[in-house]
Amino acid sequence: MVYTNLDSIDFSLDDCASLERPRRVVLTSPDYFDVEYVINPHMSGNIGGVNQPVAMQQWKALRAAYSAVDVEPLIVDGEAGLPDMVFCANQTLPYKTTDGRNGIVLSRMHAPERQNEVPHYAAFFDAIGYDVQSLPEEIDIDFEGMGDAIWHPGRRLLWGGYGFRTDRETYEALAELIDVRVIALSLSDPEFYHLDTCFSALNTDSVLIFPDAFDDEALRLIHRFFDTVVEAPEGESRHQFACNAHCPDGDHVFIQEGCTETVGRLADAGFHPVELDTSEFLKSGGSVFCMKQMIW
Ligand code: ARG
Repeated sequence: MVYTNLDSIDFSLDDCASLERPRRVVLTSPDYFDVEYVINPHMSGNIGGVNQPVAMQQWKALRAAYSAVDVEPLIVDGEAGLPDMVFCANQTLPYKTTDGRNGIVLSRMHAPERQNEVPHYAAFFDAIGYDVQSLPEEIDIDFEGMGDAIWHPGRRLLWGGYGFRTDRETYEALAELIDVRVIALSLSDPEFYHLDTCFSALNTDSVLIFPDAFDDEALRLIHRFFDTVVEAPEGESRHQFACNAHCPDGDHVFIQEGCTETVGRLADAGFHPVELDTSEFLKSGGSVFCMKQMIW
């Protein structure tokens, strides 16, 4: 159920059960957001450097952008002492079973600094009626939720990044736990430490990637399953997190302001880019995609 090379692929997208589009979004308020430690290269030099009022304004604009495309925001409060909690894509992987049950798999954060974020999300999802699942305790594996595990839009198929925050073996356990096929892609550039820093699935046929973050095998797999592969240029990918964009509805693409080249290529591919400023969050190595969690 875990695929790492083209030769092993024995299924097509049509063999994967359809998956309805999630229509609600979880957002965590950045009340205690800051850069207090360095766990990815983007954070270095930024300790104590967040402008909190500006971060709050940027977050509110993101919340308004989701409401404007009819995606309902559910708000989790940030917690004191957990400065990265605002990146709510990382602590869980939401899923829907083929018989319609909603659940989450809890992450096993690689960085000790972030491990105490997870119980807050377990409690939140439990309270809204989601099944809360854990990976088997007897295996020692890291997993950072939707930072690394991304649903193929419209299909019960997962794309999984591994190498920095999530282990390759995690996907065997995950595939079994929630009964899903996983295509696992190796990551090796530390500036692209999560899959969502270099890969954003836009709709069933289209994906936005930074190609140099992937090896040849990964690129072959991506091209096998997406007809349209929009490539973001290096500078915008590395410094402005162009590929940490998010397409909530198959049409609009929320993306860091100033990714001019990428915005043009997305428009050429028929999408409507919406530029948002997440500059305060870039100081911590995150942008739009990691600041939200889509749920059913
Ligand atoms: N400072 C956070 C970390 O390094 C940023 C997480 C961004 N999330 C993401 N999915 N890329 O863990």
